[in-house]
Amino acid sequence: MPVITCIDDLKRLHKLRTPKMFYDYCESGSWTEQTFRENTSDFDKIRLRQRVAVDMSNRTTKTTMIGRDVAMPVALAPVGLTGMQRADGEIKAARAAEKFGVPFTLSTMSICSIEDVRENTKAPFWFQLYVMRDEEFVDNIIQRAKNAGVDALVITLDLQILGQRHKDLKNGLSAPPKLTAKSIIDMGWRVQWGLEMLQTKRRTFRNIVGHAKSASDMSSLSAWTAEQFEPRLDWSMIARLKEKWGGKVILKGVLDVEDAKKAVEVGCDAIVVSNHGGRQLDGALSSIRVLPSIVEAVGDQTEVWLDSGIRSGQDVLKALCLGAKGVMIGRAYIHGLGAMGEAGVTKALEVIHKELDISMALCGRRDINTFDRDMVLVPDDFEGRWA
Ligand SMILES: Cc1cc2nc3c(=O)[nH]c(=O)nc-3n(C[C@H](O)[C@H](O)[C@H](O)COP(=O)(O)O)c2cc1C
Repeated sequence: MPVITCIDDLKRLHKLRTPKMFYDYCESGSWTEQTFRENTSDFDKIRLRQRVAVDMSNRTTKTTMIGRDVAMPVALAPVGLTGMQRADGEIKAARAAEKFGVPFTLSTMSICSIEDVRENTKAPFWFQLYVMRDEEFVDNIIQRAKNAGVDALVITLDLQILGQRHKDLKNGLSAPPKLTAKSIIDMGWRVQWGLEMLQTKRRTFRNIVGHAKSASDMSSLSAWTAEQFEPRLDWSMIARLKEKWGGKVILKGVLDVEDAKKAVEVGCDAIVVSNHGGRQLDGALSSIRVLPSIVEAVGDQTEVWLDSGIRSGQDVLKALCLGAKGVMIGRAYIHGLGAMGEAGVTKALEVIHKELDISMALCGRRDINTFDRDMVLVPDDFEGRWA
């Protein structure tokens, strides 16, 4: 058993143990990957403020996210094709999250369906909705989420059209993978991955196949998904969806103060300041740079969370100090899953929790809810003067 000390260790194992097309799908951004890179490098520009001789006993990282008790303010972000990183990946990640006491979000584009996750976990989870042109499908999936006791709907706003990731085109990404000489050789090396995949029946988009009328089988599925993301999505449509759902709503993919204000107007329980992990608009600012201005504009009206670029507990702390009430992680837990399945997701959460807890203590605080701007050092020009 390798010694895992950080998310990077999990990333290395993920690369080793998962077919290239799925590892690449995870570890890539759109076009030049500038935003993808800056999501992490901008965190490095912020420093934590060390404080000493402060009682650091009885610490707690417990808090709430939209009223839900959490072991730390970190939720698992929706990630498509998670069940291709490891067989039954969504179920494994949801179980790890449940045991750890943090929320799990299931993507519309998941391999395991809403019902699969429901049957294999007890804790309520969140469901992320991509708004599709097929209204009947959208109505139906909202109802399925309600039936499964999903306790918050995450509506993703930054993917009406798909950002291009070069590697996916070059690798011929698909689920299940197409059998070519190259992919067979690649998968042949990943023995554990292959054995587990052979043992599961969950190898395609189970939220969709058999539920959308014109995607009843594999051959019609790719045509259906290619044309389904709703390009007309606007605030009035979001308001209607919110009404249909009738429960808690998280709006994900906000990167601009004006949009944050609109999100608050429509009404939401939280917004996620996010650029989709650098997978959509290449050239957009990193989430952490934008966060302070959005917190200032709407932080007293809704919970502001952040994702994109978090790879450590120190990053979580920095986001909290700049005003986020919580964060979502994507790749950090996918690396864990690809490395070691459910145990790997647990390990990713443990790593981040330990880093968060110890860094909090070394900053001279005992309660995660007390973090504020005072605890970080941010260069004068960090947010930048962008005209
Ligand atoms: C492989 C991959 C697939 C993703 N699929 C989805 C998705 O289906 N729905 C969604 O709203 N966001 C999706 N995202 C974006 C994540 O929810 C999240 O915003 C992003 O991963 C955060 O950045 P990080 O990976 O640097 O933590 C995906 C991200 C990755 C890396």
